[in-house]
Amino acid sequence: MSNGIKQKILKLKAEKDVCILAHSYMSEEVCSVADFVGDSYALAVKAKTAPQSTVIMCGVRFMAETVKMLSPQKRVILSNSKAGCAMAEQFDREVIEHVKKLYPDYAVVAYVNTTAELKTIADVCVTSSSAVKICRALPEKNILFIPDINLGTYVKERVPEKNFKLLSGGCPTHAQIEKSDVLKAKSVHPDALFLVHPECRPEVVALADYAGSTSGIMDFAEKSDKKEFIIGTENSIVEHLQAKCPGKSFYPLSEKLVCANMRLTTLSDVLSCLEGDGGEEIILDESLRKAAVKCIERMIELGG
Ligand code: 13P
Ligand code: SF4
Repeated sequence: MSNGIKQKILKLKAEKDVCILAHSYMSEEVCSVADFVGDSYALAVKAKTAPQSTVIMCGVRFMAETVKMLSPQKRVILSNSKAGCAMAEQFDREVIEHVKKLYPDYAVVAYVNTTAELKTIADVCVTSSSAVKICRALPEKNILFIPDINLGTYVKERVPEKNFKLLSGGCPTHAQIEKSDVLKAKSVHPDALFLVHPECRPEVVALADYAGSTSGIMDFAEKSDKKEFIIGTENSIVEHLQAKCPGKSFYPLSEKLVCANMRLTTLSDVLSCLEGDGGEEIILDESLRKAAVKCIERMIELGG
């Protein structure tokens, strides 16, 4: 059944000049029909150069908006219209504008997991794989990092030469993980390396052998000589790594590491997008797009 859908998708995407981008948290099935799979930074860079006239973004809303900002001439379709990001929608523009007034000499560094509206008032965007490099490279000494307190703390610890102000936002999926979850997993798998996403709390990240983006975690595990790994990010990464490296063993840090939004997109959704009756075409007001894209372009300039 899914093989039939897959063949239809591959045929239609070639006929209709469509590029399918998939975030690494998508299922194995969805990744198997994608032209490119990656972390949020790699997807943003890829979106800029994809030659096709239409892009289907299999991921969450801020990722599809980023594609549209960088390629306004393309049709950009979010694979499932309900796929938001709980962190991206945590703060509205008024709150951030209020905080900006309290710290007028601070550059606003926004995690890419933010709405288009918030991007219009940020100086630069970052992703988990580019945040440290970009914060170091910024000419400003004072940084207001929004919205993820955990990623912000991770960056602050690695860029001690700068002053940081952090907000109290974060990813509910990663932030629910506690130190005790790590200690438990390590006691069950004492020989395993622990790899973690910096959206987890600092006390969890402190126990890791490696911390990095979704692609960073996958690269590390693939290249490592070690055979066992505890994976501290969305559990789809466990599934991908097990498929890529059958000779190694991957264990989820916790059954709780599931992002409901990332799980929404199915192969049938991708087919519906291609058939013209599914997903949601991203439409951004041109003045909003122009104001928001600046911080994405600066991210690519400083993060490359
Ligand atoms: P990456 O930047 O690692 O792709 O992470 C995006 C994300 O939403 C993680 O929860
Ligand atoms: Fe957003 Fe968290 Fe889901 Fe990533 S895992 S898309 S940050 S809610």
